[in-house]
Amino acid sequence: MMTGPLRRKDSWLRILAIAFIVSVTEAGEPTSEVRRGPALHRHKRAWNWQALYTGEENIVTTPVQIGKLRNNKSNEYTQFIIQGEGANSIFVVNQQGDVFVTQKLDRETKSVYRLRAKLIDSITKHEIEAASDFEIHVQDINDNAPEFQGPFNGSIEEMSKEGTPVLTVKATDKDDPTIANGKVEYKLLTDTDIFAIDQLGVIRSRVTSLDREFKSQYKVAVQAKDMYGQTNGFSVTSTITITVTDINDNLAYFPKRKSYTFDVREDEQPVISIGIIEVEDKDEEQNKDPTFSIPEKFSEIFQVIPNQRKDGNLRLKKALDYEQQESYTFSVFLTEQKVKLPPGASRENRAEVVITVIDVDEPPVFTRPVYNISVQEERFPFRFPEIISAKDPDKINHRIRYYIEDNACPIAVDADSGQMSLKWKLDRESLAFHVCQVVAEEKTPNGKRSSVTVNLVVMDINDNEPKLMGGDVFVCDSDNRGTVIGTITATDKDELNGVFHFRLAKPSSNFSLSDNNNGTATLTVKNGKFSTEDSADHILEIEITDGGTPLMKSIDLLAIKVCQCNSRRSPEYCRPARATTGVSVHALIAILLCIVTILVIVILIVLRRRYRKDSLVALGKASGEIHEQLVTYDEEGGGEMDTNGYDVSILTSARHDGTMLPEPSLYSIVKKPPACKGDMAMMIEVKKDEADHDRDGIPYDTLHIYGYEGPGSLAGSLSSLESSSTDGSLDYDFLCDWGPRFRTLAELYGVDGSDSDCPY
Ligand SMILES: *[C@@H]1O[C@H](CO)[C@@H](O)[C@H](O)[C@H]1NC(C)=O
Ligand SMILES: *[C@@H]1O[C@H](CO)[C@@H](O)[C@H](O)[C@H]1NC(C)=O
Ligand SMILES: *[C@@H]1O[C@H](CO)[C@@H](O)[C@H](O)[C@H]1NC(C)=O
Ligand SMILES: *[C@@H]1O[C@H](CO)[C@@H](O)[C@H](O)[C@H]1NC(C)=O
Ligand SMILES: *[C@@H]1O[C@H](CO)[C@@H](O)[C@H](O)[C@H]1NC(C)=O
Repeated sequence: MMTGPLRRKDSWLRILAIAFIVSVTEAGEPTSEVRRGPALHRHKRAWNWQALYTGEENIVTTPVQIGKLRNNKSNEYTQFIIQGEGANSIFVVNQQGDVFVTQKLDRETKSVYRLRAKLIDSITKHEIEAASDFEIHVQDINDNAPEFQGPFNGSIEEMSKEGTPVLTVKATDKDDPTIANGKVEYKLLTDTDIFAIDQLGVIRSRVTSLDREFKSQYKVAVQAKDMYGQTNGFSVTSTITITVTDINDNLAYFPKRKSYTFDVREDEQPVISIGIIEVEDKDEEQNKDPTFSIPEKFSEIFQVIPNQRKDGNLRLKKALDYEQQESYTFSVFLTEQKVKLPPGASRENRAEVVITVIDVDEPPVFTRPVYNISVQEERFPFRFPEIISAKDPDKINHRIRYYIEDNACPIAVDADSGQMSLKWKLDRESLAFHVCQVVAEEKTPNGKRSSVTVNLVVMDINDNEPKLMGGDVFVCDSDNRGTVIGTITATDKDELNGVFHFRLAKPSSNFSLSDNNNGTATLTVKNGKFSTEDSADHILEIEITDGGTPLMKSIDLLAIKVCQCNSRRSPEYCRPARATTGVSVHALIAILLCIVTILVIVILIVLRRRYRKDSLVALGKASGEIHEQLVTYDEEGGGEMDTNGYDVSILTSARHDGTMLPEPSLYSIVKKPPACKGDMAMMIEVKKDEADHDRDGIPYDTLHIYGYEGPGSLAGSLSSLESSSTDGSLDYDFLCDWGPRFRTLAELYGVDGSDSDCPY
């Protein structure tokens, strides 16, 4: 019970106490000697000291003599005087040296009184004998009961060995510990068959069979009594609590039922918990630590593992099948790894588990998880040798029908037999892999269904021609005979399992082609000099075979450019070749077709134009009249009846911003001022009438501008419109009257005679 530091403190105390005693001894006061008996001092030989003792706790009504001071020199003329602790109050002395105690004393308050005595002459008061020290000892009586310093609590593990200390109690007594009065003895008053206490207050177990599950706490009465070794004395009793702590000394067990039953649906997914197998343990929670096992035969399907509460959690490891097995019965064994069992006890508990499988209507099951089928491209019609097959796993065994929902799937499936066939011809080069889902459905209302993946691989046949894959091949004008000018190779959309072979379909006098037998061919100059000036094109026809079965062959064209090269044979200028590489006959036909189409369209357009012109002429409009119509006019546009024939908005807007205003021609600006209102009005009416009844006229409104000279003009109209009819019959003599300025005009109009007619 004592800890290290405490013990060290205690020894320190002891050292201090020793030091104290030493110092007291050095001071020349051998207390122990003084206390024990008569002091034998040389100088104080006259004093005859008997130790003075007095009892404590005595009821003092009159002074009680406790001793006598003796001195050889004392007589009837001498007198004793005492000084020191309690002198003349607690203790008094008379002339004869009798010492009295006047009060009740308590050793526990003060056990020794130190005094000093003198002998004087009672008359002269002179000191006869030198002062001497003496002590009065208060004798202990057992007037104090021991006291417990508690409270004390202890604990002990159950099943601890005999003699295992539980705790130490301590009681103290104020009485003199050197005598029985202050010595304490301990005793257990209860549970003495289980615990024992020694004289140091250590309580130990007396048995090994402490069992928390039987009794987890003891209230033990312990007594402390003084007057050690005697039957009398004071005693005190205290109750201490001793707790028995738990260890895992009980095996967990299946309570109540030996048989656990569970129902599980056959479509239950693995890993779920089927149920809990309760487990109990007499030990405390932390000492409940079961492990479970089941027979190996069932451990593939079921599993029991402890859950948080350390009960058995029964789990499903594999889906069940009612059609295979309808129930399972097995034992669950339970054990605890760290358990201290009494010898001979069973180390295993078991319970029986019964699992009933519940039937569920299940969807059809396919015979294969996936169907991988294949077909050669271009093969059609085709029936696949593989047959889709699914079965209703339930006892009823419904019949199944098959179908494919996706219309894009190239496979058709027979609803009853599951026979698969192709719906159309497949081309590996456009799609080599198809995935379809085939559904199997029970032939009942609301029948369950499931689907399976069908992977269709389209296998290759050699159905594509090889294609030339030549880069830019050019020949330098400096190239000599034997120069390698390029390597050509080919591609094929089919899966290649042969080697391309090349040869010239038409022998060329200028180039040679040699097949390398590794899918490439080398072009070499065979003949002579080339020139960029030469307009001849060098086009080789190359026959390529792809080495597949059946052998596919194609003839591709390869145009070779002629270039001017530098010394390192890199081209600097090339004359563009007119034909490009590999223009096939199909392409040429397509181009030709385009050209023909364009030509036909052009001819049609031209024909249509001509027809329209003809019909305009056929309307009988004289070209002259049209001219008259086309005299500059200001278009007002937007007539009342013909808004859709002519977009007026353009005109109006143009008019407003003024940008598109037609410039009035000079002709329209030179106008004579209107002379007579009547004439003008009549003239407008006439023109309006003309316009209204003009059937050949342009249908929309037009603004006609007419020059009107008016009737009052001497010059008459300058218009030529009517001049033809009157020409010649007119007399222009008046021109002469106008003066010399108009002479030329007069001459022009052939005024009669000559210049003489005119007065100038
Ligand atoms: C005094 O008494 C002591 C013994 O108590 C004795 O030894 C001593 O001789 C006596 N002295 C006289 C003077 O009587
Ligand atoms: C001793 O045990 C009692 C009862 O279990 C408890 O009430 C008390 O607090 C404990 N005292 C100490 C000092 O542990
Ligand atoms: C079926 O084909 C798929 C995809 O090509 C492949 O992953 C799978 O292994 C094949 N299964 C069988 C059984 O051949
Ligand atoms: C094919 O053969 C030619 C000549 O033997 C050689 O130069 C070329 O590297 C070969 N090509 C390949 C792809 O093996
Ligand atoms: C060979 O080249 C020459 C000169 O460039 C040319 O005139 C001739 O037509 C070519 N021969 C063939 C078969 O292309």
